[in-house]
Amino acid sequence: MASDFYGEILAPSGAYKYFINGDWKESASGKSVAIVNPSTRQTAYNVQACTQAEVNEMFEISRSSQKQWAQTPLWKRAELLKKAATLLREHALPIASCLVTEIAKPSRDSMTEVIRSADLLDYTAEEGVRVLGQGKILNSDSFPGNGRNKLCLVSKVALGVVLAIPPFNYPVNLAVSKIGPALMAGNVVVLKPPTQGVVAGLHMAQCFHKAGFPKGVLNVITGKGSEIGDFLTTHPSVNCISFTGGDTGISISKKAGMVPLQMELGGKDVCIVCEDANLDLAAKHIVKGGFSYSGQRCTAVKLVLVHDKVADELVSKIVPQVQKLSVGMPENDCDITPVISETSANFIQGLVLDAKEKGAKFLTEFKREGNLLWPTLLDHVTPAMRLAWEEPFGPVLPIVRVQTVEQAIEHCNKNNIALQGCVFTQDINRAIMISDAMETGTVQINAAPARGPDHFPFQGFRDSGIGSQGITNSLEMMVKTKSTVINLEAESYAMG
Ligand code: G3P
Repeated sequence: MASDFYGEILAPSGAYKYFINGDWKESASGKSVAIVNPSTRQTAYNVQACTQAEVNEMFEISRSSQKQWAQTPLWKRAELLKKAATLLREHALPIASCLVTEIAKPSRDSMTEVIRSADLLDYTAEEGVRVLGQGKILNSDSFPGNGRNKLCLVSKVALGVVLAIPPFNYPVNLAVSKIGPALMAGNVVVLKPPTQGVVAGLHMAQCFHKAGFPKGVLNVITGKGSEIGDFLTTHPSVNCISFTGGDTGISISKKAGMVPLQMELGGKDVCIVCEDANLDLAAKHIVKGGFSYSGQRCTAVKLVLVHDKVADELVSKIVPQVQKLSVGMPENDCDITPVISETSANFIQGLVLDAKEKGAKFLTEFKREGNLLWPTLLDHVTPAMRLAWEEPFGPVLPIVRVQTVEQAIEHCNKNNIALQGCVFTQDINRAIMISDAMETGTVQINAAPARGPDHFPFQGFRDSGIGSQGITNSLEMMVKTKSTVINLEAESYAMG
């Protein structure tokens, strides 16, 4: 039974409503979309299959609400964000249990995601007041041939309507990382939650609603990507798109037109292990980085490139740790839980079979029950294998042995996806040089790749993204520069 706090988001039909103009509503389509629990492959929830007409209505309301919202003082916006953060903490459990059911995220990690999201909103409120509260004045006489008779007031103004599309693996945290900065900057948001994770997203939106945000400032549309996907991302009312997900983002960016884009797509994050590395440290980070949330993180370690001299020793440290990982259901907080869908499980299995056919050595056996895949470690992987290049987004970790670090860097830079990477060495000078040479958005030295802490810049190169995230960068990205030039009549009253 939904708590009173969340009661209004569920329709008598049993399907969750969508959120428009401060109201929870059922779609005129009368249709719903079934949300399947990846662990049971049974329908767990139903949400509204919204129509293109409802999308139009939502954008219309968003546009008109934005004018008023942009006039709301920064301190007031910050106050409301903090209120939403407090409600997220107070009502976290139902959201976390949705994550367990919808995306098979282990229960402890699910709760962590919600609390992390509340922290992100608090930080955004404080940082937003600082960053967005600043403007600057330029004087005309610093440019040759100009007198002191022009003053340029440079301010930051909202973009307008931001379309936020978070991924299934962080439907709450990577929603607030878009919504928080967008609202703080005076934009309004149309949120299109991922299909898997949509109900957690709707519960999160209720926290913003109950926090007292004005009607129409945050709206949530649900439905089939095939019916409203392109209609949303190419809609003329969109002033900015912030998307996190797979290579769908590439087609969105191609169709989006003249709007700022914040795109964070996949990663084939390499882990380079030098011959002087602390192998215990490397092994610990490789296992945690490679298998947390069953490898379904864009920052997961997805390829180990280890110097041949230390490969055997590294492998001997990794294998027992992988064998200790618990495999099972998210509600039991297992380390490895079912992957998001049958399609994903099939894709991952395809990559493993390709490696098997081409002679990879299995350090742990590949086993599958439905969407549940046992953690698989493969050694002697070669560039001829798809696993050396493609992102499994699952509990599969390939190891490539290299003769030189240069060879490892070359492999890293050859891939079109270039989000993050890491290097293990005890020589900091060398680490910095290697980081310089690796063409990825971030390089972690002596730790596994990670997006957080959430005020750090986070960006992908090449096909891994456009723009940069991280709270401050997202705030900066959600505004545009406005110049007001005061042309003074008189030159000056310089005395004497
Ligand atoms: O999209 C980023 C996400 O997949 C990884 O985030 O915090 O697990 O490194 P994180």
